[in-house]
Amino acid sequence: MKILQLLPSLLLSMLVSVATADVERGKTLYAQVCFNCHGPALDGGQGPALNDRYWQHGSSPEAILKVIDKGVPGSPMIAYESVFPEADRIAMRNFILSAQEGFRETVRAVYPRAPFQGKRLTSELFDPVKPESQTALPENWYYFERNQDGVLRGTSKLHIKQPGNYHFTIRPIGRTTIYLDGKEVHYSDAKTTKRTHRNETFELAPGVYDFEILHEEKTAHRYRFNGFLVHEGGRKWPLHGRSLQGNIPVIIKAGPEAKVVRKWIAGLPPRTLLCLLPNHVIVAYDVEQGAVIRAWHSAEINQTPSLPDRSTKPSEIRGEPIQDAEAQVSDSERSRFLRYESRGDQVHIVSLTSGKEQAVVIAPDGAQSFTVSLN
Ligand code: HEC
Repeated sequence: MKILQLLPSLLLSMLVSVATADVERGKTLYAQVCFNCHGPALDGGQGPALNDRYWQHGSSPEAILKVIDKGVPGSPMIAYESVFPEADRIAMRNFILSAQEGFRETVRAVYPRAPFQGKRLTSELFDPVKPESQTALPENWYYFERNQDGVLRGTSKLHIKQPGNYHFTIRPIGRTTIYLDGKEVHYSDAKTTKRTHRNETFELAPGVYDFEILHEEKTAHRYRFNGFLVHEGGRKWPLHGRSLQGNIPVIIKAGPEAKVVRKWIAGLPPRTLLCLLPNHVIVAYDVEQGAVIRAWHSAEINQTPSLPDRSTKPSEIRGEPIQDAEAQVSDSERSRFLRYESRGDQVHIVSLTSGKEQAVVIAPDGAQSFTVSLN
């Protein structure tokens, strides 16, 4: 009997240490194979980003493992079933899961209005009612294109990495109830007075939570639902959104700080770093060659617009090509790419050359140009 009583806690501590070891193993394997197409920081390249909210083949643990196992026929994503043993494939999946942040595995169900009339929206009220439709959303957004249809119940897994205080802000249109792990954390009803609006602050530790949102708007309502999860530090995760299924392009532009993105662009090698400078110059730097291979001014990136095509169609750079931008910068034979970082308006691409760290610095120059220097 004694042994049996001990077992659960023993098992639990074993499971936890196995889990972290597993993620470490997955990270190592990822850095050997997958990073080439999905980017060193899982932010995409020739293959899609694996840390954003768009999951063409599903964001659940089962769906991610299935893609790793079986691949996507007709795409560069091969089946890894015969390449790695099962434990390794699970470890890579667990590493990918450990990198998630925000809402995943989002399912939107629409219910008829009648059973909810005049009642406070609670989870129990929905349980006996049959939904009219139920859809897994690969975008992980709660978009309400036709919110006049009925009452909505959305569920997600909420991945939290940053500990601290959080709250929801919901523009009070109609009524909304939100639960985290079954506990009500938000309630608002546009009809009632402000006093009854609940916008509680709650503390979250890193982990994965069950998220549920119940929402109804007036039938003829024309505004779009607007909601965010907000961290005390100011970071926000939108709940609302619009389906990418309908060809809405995602434009990536430079901000006040320089940034680096890796996207699949036709004609550019998969490991090209696209350096977006605040003067709207984009510099394509090939880390393999140690060279600037192309550049554009007045430029932006049009990321593959529609979801079904997201990975099979390259993104494109729109802008004016800068003539004679090509330049061999570092000695590719003797140097190994380490990392990139943005520092203010500059991008630093750091490699190890003859045992020493060396940075290629790409900086804006005037309105339509850039400079490259070795540091
Ligand atoms: C040769 C390039 C390449 C390599 C290497 C590669 N992938 Fe992929 N991967 C892709 C492409 C392209 C897709 C998109 C396929 C499609 O949907 O058309 C993809 C899709 C995926 C998806 C599904 C993403 C989604 O949005 O649903 C996962 C998960 C994934 N890859 C994991 C991995 C893992 C783990 C590895 C390493 C074992 C790996 N990939 C190696 C190119 C690659």
